[in-house]
Amino acid sequence: MDTEITLRVDGAARSLTVDTRTTLLDALRERLRNTSPKKGCDHGQCGACTVLLDGRRVNSCLVLAVTVGDAEVITSDGLATDDRPHPLHDSFVEHDGFQCGYCTPGQVCSAAGVLAEARAGWPSHVTEDLTAEGVTLTDAEIRERMSGNLCRCAAYANIVPAVAAVAEKEGVR
Ligand code: FES
Ligand code: FES
Repeated sequence: MDTEITLRVDGAARSLTVDTRTTLLDALRERLRNTSPKKGCDHGQCGACTVLLDGRRVNSCLVLAVTVGDAEVITSDGLATDDRPHPLHDSFVEHDGFQCGYCTPGQVCSAAGVLAEARAGWPSHVTEDLTAEGVTLTDAEIRERMSGNLCRCAAYANIVPAVAAVAEKEGVR
């Protein structure tokens, strides 16, 4: 069954008609030509399709486009503002954390989600003191929180310092 939806993507409202089974990832890539999120596994296992949905990271291959409503969808492209890269973009460059174009947009979106989670004080599986005020993004925390984003080449070493540098500037490290 087809239905008309409006998605708010990277600050712009886009109306389209989709089969109700269309994933957010396919709507973005195939219908709206936004190729920032990538299709790796299409099964929620690699993180290449990560986008922010009202500020929270999701695997867009696991989200049906018709369920998104008027939530704000932000891709790695949309993290840039006023023609300026996001601090995470800069930090990934500075720390040589940029890898292939396949996994990096998802890594950057996920990192933005990690910073927001830390600012909100959300604990992770490796948080030692669940009663502490706020969250400190140690290397272990960053690794744990970024663990849903896989790289086929295992080139992770520079991503942790790239995220850590921004976390430090934001006061969550
Ligand atoms: S393509 Fe969505 S998690 Fe792999
Ligand atoms: S560098 Fe992107 S998958 Fe390995």
